[in-house]
Amino acid sequence: MAIRTVLRMGDPVLLQVAKKVEQFDTPELETLLQDMHDTMVALNGAGLAAPQIGISLQVVIFGVDYNPRYPDAEAVPYTILINPKITPLSKKVEEDWEGCLSVPGMRGRVPRHTKIRYQGVDQHGNTIDRSVENFHARVVQHECDHLHGILYPMRIRDFRQFGFTDVLFPGQEVMDD
Ligand code: NI
Repeated sequence: MAIRTVLRMGDPVLLQVAKKVEQFDTPELETLLQDMHDTMVALNGAGLAAPQIGISLQVVIFGVDYNPRYPDAEAVPYTILINPKITPLSKKVEEDWEGCLSVPGMRGRVPRHTKIRYQGVDQHGNTIDRSVENFHARVVQHECDHLHGILYPMRIRDFRQFGFTDVLFPGQEVMDD
């Protein structure tokens, strides 16, 4: 296991379109997933995409335990999602605060579809096909954006709603990612 350095905004790898995973159940994929998990947990993130640790492959992980300190953030099951495809299930878009381990110390209001279907495979190549909404949908859209070279600040519409976490939310505990 290893905690990897998370690339920060400005690194060109974060702007690349990631390649599809072609081979499953390989030691390389297992190591990548273990390192991503260890890094996400160590940094208290809700999700992580492989390009954030410098690996330009279509691999994301995410998961949030219910935490009474953040009652609005519903629990999201820990998920390994490879070669994902997202289909919006509603035209409805909502803005809410997001952060990112590649944009440390900041938050911005980002519009996202409230209901989506996401499809892909897990680390063994088994199909994942889920329809989700709200926070779960937001997390998946954020992580999958990383696979297309998109960081959440690129989606902000009103830059008055973008700033440093400790200034925006003084005295509050906020999730790290
Ligand atoms: Ni991110």
